Amino acid sequence: MSFRIGQGWDNHRIAEGRPLILGGVTVECEFGLDGHSDADVLSHAVTDAILGALADHDIGAHFPDTDPKWKGAGSLQFLRHACDLAAAAGFRIANVDSTIILQTPKLKDYRLAMRESLATTMGISLAQVSVKFKTAEKVGPVGEGKSAEAQAIVLLIG
Ligand code: C5P
Ligand code: MG
Repeated sequence: MSFRIGQGWDNHRIAEGRPLILGGVTVECEFGLDGHSDADVLSHAVTDAILGALADHDIGAHFPDTDPKWKGAGSLQFLRHACDLAAAAGFRIANVDSTIILQTPKLKDYRLAMRESLATTMGISLAQVSVKFKTAEKVGPVGEGKSAEAQAIVLLIG
């Protein structure tokens, strides 16, 4: 049996007039995140964690943000593609742990929906997916409400 571990990190600027989509779930909020795709910072971090575990470049190499094809794209398709690459390389996902760092709004009521969305997309069970939330204690760009970050770690078993 072989194991591969990967980590991912992402950051998007907060913008008015954009939806706030996290793990494929739309959060009710007066602002959203800016980006070429749907700017789903959580899905991007999890996708990069899988690609990292596979040592297969990164999300921008697979889905360039200069390609009009990905403008406004739903990011769960990026995650699905990374899972397909993992399966093709002979790996299954043992578990995913992740953290969204966002000052407001409170996200905990969306935790189950995000876990379900990620688990369904990745073809794994709810128990294999963790999503955590932190404020930035009002410090730095995240704390000042200028951006959102996400971190993820994944273990693959082959
Ligand atoms: O950042 P802090 O430790 O103050 O967060 C306390 C708790 O608030 C977190 O453990 C999380 O459950 C929740 N939280 C949240 N949405 C956020 C930030 C934190 O639900 N945007
Ligand atoms: Mg991103």
